[in-house]
Amino acid sequence: MTKFAILGHGVVGSGTAELFFMNKDLINKREGFDLELGYILDIRDFPGLSYSNLFTKDINDILSDPEVKVVAEVMGGVNPAFDFVKRCLEKGKSVCTSNKELVAKKGAELLKTAREHNCNFAFEASTGGAIPVIEPMHTCLCANELTGAAGIVNGTTNFILTKMIEENMPLERALKTAQDLGYAEKDPTADIEGHDACRKICILASMISGKHVYPEMVPTEGIMSLTLEDAEYASANGYALKLIASVEKHGDKYLPLVAPRFVSCKNQLAHVTDVFNAITVYGNGFDEVMFYGKGAGKLPTASAVLGDVITCAKADGTVMTRMWEDSTDDSFIEKPEHAVTRLFVRTTASKDEITAAMGEVTFLKTPERITGENAFITAADEEGLLNEKLSQLAGGVITTIRVLK
Ligand code: HSE
Repeated sequence: MTKFAILGHGVVGSGTAELFFMNKDLINKREGFDLELGYILDIRDFPGLSYSNLFTKDINDILSDPEVKVVAEVMGGVNPAFDFVKRCLEKGKSVCTSNKELVAKKGAELLKTAREHNCNFAFEASTGGAIPVIEPMHTCLCANELTGAAGIVNGTTNFILTKMIEENMPLERALKTAQDLGYAEKDPTADIEGHDACRKICILASMISGKHVYPEMVPTEGIMSLTLEDAEYASANGYALKLIASVEKHGDKYLPLVAPRFVSCKNQLAHVTDVFNAITVYGNGFDEVMFYGKGAGKLPTASAVLGDVITCAKADGTVMTRMWEDSTDDSFIEKPEHAVTRLFVRTTASKDEITAAMGEVTFLKTPERITGENAFITAADEEGLLNEKLSQLAGGVITTIRVLK
């Protein structure tokens, strides 16, 4: 028998137990082994569940049981998750996690520890919920140099932006609905200020660059400054408004960024709505592939956690190729002002003043209820230069939002 343990019985932890018991016979028959849930670690009591006997408050019960080969860490946060994960790996037990903060802050160290102890640290559930993107990048796409990724990786903000665009719903009410549906983080600031998306792009950027990209290396903007008027401009002119996490190779550097973007309706990312996530990955052999699915929620995330548990249980004793180096400085990181982009701009300046300052631009249709301003999209240029020109613009700039290529 191979046992696994779950650390944490919150939304994802209880979902992992629920999905396992729902599909246990099928999984064991299909995979040809005898996987059993041995323990659930939580400081709280959960009486009255069909599996209440599995709970423990002591990590040593799990560490000292040689039948436990795999541990699912779904507690969230760095402490005490990091300590527990490190100790499990040092005992040769593979760890599968949905904890993007842990991977974004400690991934290089935990991958190294896993390798040194002949086990695996897997993190499919940390980015994109149910969507298989981490494993395909490590396996199916491993014949390529990966050159970038861009996607919608936060279900809560995508849900909020969809409600703003499609139902004219104010941000606060849309956020409350997302929280009620269990999509948001415990502290929703991490979602709406972009920190959750930042952690996820750190993971993808580390895989792509081969060096650990830490959260403080990623310029990060959330959605709090976006208004219903911005959303109306987007809809009226054939764009969607999305929080995009991206990483791009620039020469021998990498540019990671989390920011709201205007996304043309010709781009498939514009059509990714509600809690769905989608990630486009770029590589030198395959050009681009897109991954799409539910990016948050109890069973979708549990699906990715349990998938990793099963894979690691089958691979027990084998180290799979998952690795990036630690980074000592940010000399491999490019700054957004050096990247070529286009900007959506709202301003009180006249069209003549805009053309005088910015050169050729594309003027946008103004939604009916908005008066006293003009909006346009700049020609493509280095972001730093575009911002210099905007600072010359007579009349105030109301909003600037980057346009996705
Ligand atoms: N709060 C996250 C989201 C959960 O909304 O995407 C999944 O990581």
